[in-house]
Amino acid sequence: MPSGASNGGRSAARGGGAGGAVAGPPGPLWIAALPKAEVHLHLEGCVPPSIVGPAGTGRVGVDPAGADPDAPPAFGDLADFLEYLDRSCALVTHGDQVERIAYAICERARDSGVGHADVIFNPEHWPAWQRDLGGFVARLDAGLAAGGQDHGVTTGLCLSLTRTQPPSASTELVDWLLHARPPRVVALSVDGNEAAAGRTGGRFRPLFERARQAGLHTCAHAGESSGPDGVRDAVELLGAERIDHGIRAVEDPALVADLAARGIPLDVCPTSNVRLGVVPSMAAHPIERLRAAGVPVSVNTDDPLLFGTSVAAEYGTCAATFGWGETTLTRIARTSIESSFADPDRRRDLLQALDDYAGAAGPR
Ligand code: ADE
Ligand code: ZN
Repeated sequence: MPSGASNGGRSAARGGGAGGAVAGPPGPLWIAALPKAEVHLHLEGCVPPSIVGPAGTGRVGVDPAGADPDAPPAFGDLADFLEYLDRSCALVTHGDQVERIAYAICERARDSGVGHADVIFNPEHWPAWQRDLGGFVARLDAGLAAGGQDHGVTTGLCLSLTRTQPPSASTELVDWLLHARPPRVVALSVDGNEAAAGRTGGRFRPLFERARQAGLHTCAHAGESSGPDGVRDAVELLGAERIDHGIRAVEDPALVADLAARGIPLDVCPTSNVRLGVVPSMAAHPIERLRAAGVPVSVNTDDPLLFGTSVAAEYGTCAATFGWGETTLTRIARTSIESSFADPDRRRDLLQALDDYAGAAGPR
């Protein structure tokens, strides 16, 4: 739990008044102490921007002496953003850096009340490690284990393929994963630019099938740079348990109804969608329409250090934008835990913690 929020942040969050129903939107301390999971978080988005520096970000005209070296860069669109990831992750060449990045994920999770995080990593972004993926995952595991121990956070890794990579490269990664089977890796995923790749569900389908047969979970980016067809393909062809983003499903009412009826969760990243121009503004974000239509949605950061956000900040932004109160935020947190790839005991414990917290919060 976040420091200073051990009472659930209730009195401080709402300016006093112990117990009973309290009017007004949930405060930041209440939000930060709400037990939750983060299920859409990229390792690549956890590399501090200072590793690249102002010149590398293209932030011309900025005085490096006066600028915050870790200020989030500005991005044009997803393609621009993905190129940036290639540049920044290429600078991570030492195991100590990898461990530090992993450890810090657990620190930030604790600060946002995140008890479990599923962390996506895409080997294609990390050239220094492509011939030593086992070493890379071992360093990630060490950092996540130490951070988890110190901050009470559990984590799983999702190995991600790239939509635009040659089929032989995707196959090689799945071969490696199923042969090495590092215990920290719990899922196969696919990310990258669907607008550039076109429809690739059929191509990735056999790889997802192999991963499922081997007992791995599956999730897929879709409905960010692709429209509703991408979401359908992720569900029907890849058998994804969870859709990363998925927000453009909103363009197809039949698909929305289907996702709701089948209870297929979307792990939504509101600030990311605004920053990458997927939606024009937070007010126009479809998460509220999807939620109101009965689609299970969770709220996540995608790439927190690059979009200057945190899980707690995302909950706060949604609460302020859509008028979400405690009941809705608690529902979102429940979906985040239920849709996580935490092991069943951990999920049960986190759901219990959430019930205890919500129950102690008084009438809503
Ligand atoms: N990799 C990191 N963030 C991503 C995003 N939002 N979409 C696709 N691939 C990504
Ligand atoms: Zn993502």
